[in-house]
Amino acid sequence: MPTKNTSIHGEWSSRLAFILAAAGSAVGLGNIWKFPYMAGENGGGAFVLIYLACIAVFGLPIMMAEVMLGRRGRQSPINTMKTLSQQESAHKAWGLLGWSGVLAGVLILSYYSVIAGWSLSYVIESVSGSLKGISGTQAGELFESLIASPLTLIFWHTVFMVMTMIVVARGVIGGLEVAVRYLMPSLLILILVLIAYSVSQGHFMLGVEFMFTPDFSKINQDVLLSAMGQAFFSLSLGMGAIMIYGSYLSQQASIAKTSFAVALMDTSVAILAGLAIFPIVFANHLDTGQGAALIFNTLPLAFGQMPGGVIFGTLFFVLLVFAAWTSSISLIEPAVAWLVERRGLTRIKASIICGFVTWLVGLGTVFSFNIWETYTMFDKTVFDLLDYLTTNIMLPLGGLLIAVFVGWSMRESSVRDEMAMSNPVLYQAWRLLIRFVTPVGVLLIFLNVIGII
Ligand code: TRP
Repeated sequence: MPTKNTSIHGEWSSRLAFILAAAGSAVGLGNIWKFPYMAGENGGGAFVLIYLACIAVFGLPIMMAEVMLGRRGRQSPINTMKTLSQQESAHKAWGLLGWSGVLAGVLILSYYSVIAGWSLSYVIESVSGSLKGISGTQAGELFESLIASPLTLIFWHTVFMVMTMIVVARGVIGGLEVAVRYLMPSLLILILVLIAYSVSQGHFMLGVEFMFTPDFSKINQDVLLSAMGQAFFSLSLGMGAIMIYGSYLSQQASIAKTSFAVALMDTSVAILAGLAIFPIVFANHLDTGQGAALIFNTLPLAFGQMPGGVIFGTLFFVLLVFAAWTSSISLIEPAVAWLVERRGLTRIKASIICGFVTWLVGLGTVFSFNIWETYTMFDKTVFDLLDYLTTNIMLPLGGLLIAVFVGWSMRESSVRDEMAMSNPVLYQAWRLLIRFVTPVGVLLIFLNVIGII
């Protein structure tokens, strides 16, 4: 029996602290910005249905597996995978999984920060009253003028990256706990305010119908792949973010229950965001398939019309920034923790290095909305390409490999010991999923996209 590993970075103060941190990682732009526009672009109900299925069949089991790996390895994903493959006498190459996770995290954060920057700029628009009584055309123009300016985007991208790296430099344990405890419920309340507006002023039933009436003829390879990718993205899976948070989890906490709570919270926020947004889209005859601009063209209309819109709008965008903040931290934490472990750097130095590299890569996304708009590869801009590569390929592939490692390469006894599930039936069900259903399912979707089946 290998001895238990311990974390040099510390531990969460309680199980609730972990749930809050993991939920903080999961709930972010992915739920409020990305989920609605992906659903809008991919046929509404059909996408939502597959997304929910992917959460249940891939997301939850992989989340449990990631938390378990983290808690057993107790280090950055790179070193966790290295240590565990040694302890489990598995192939050394499993260490690569940690590396691809670190890379995916940096790539995702590079564009995530630019979008978070948009949200920051909407805090200012909102507080200055410029959304008051705004029309659909004006909202569109406002957004266009924002993304047309590289300097403005760079400014906000820089502000957000600095915010992120300050927290990471100080250590994620502690700060996150307090932040998420108050922010998450506040964000939920603001989404409910928006839903109330949608019920009274929007075409609420049209929105509901769009999201929950699956038109099966709309399901194709792209919809399948995007829904799967979105499930991984939204739950922060496949790159080690949840793994590193798991590495700070105390030995007593139940992995199954905590994972379930996090997945449920995350999914609820996404669905509620959709319910808030689509009724406004329909009431204003906007296009559901307009892509990344969707919430920025839609929500200002609601805040511009509702009583107290300046306050609600400002609060909403502030909370959106906070939600993005608590997510971005988990995207870069694996890289920073690794530099600390491996090179013995201080957290501050490690954060500056990782933050700078990510910031630099982010410029590609900034320019893809203006001066590089016409540079495309496979019909995709730099931003689209980065998003596609990470969300649709790297994360599901990472998840698939995690499932194979846990299901096939680790000793059953180690897995059972670390999962410590009190209900043997649930444990067997999870094991069945992680060994067969999850990896085969992800693989089938990949093969389908490549055109082999
Ligand atoms: N889940 C976050 C969101 O929905 C984004 C995120 C944070 C993420 N950490 C991640 C996505 C790790 C993939 C992997 O906004």
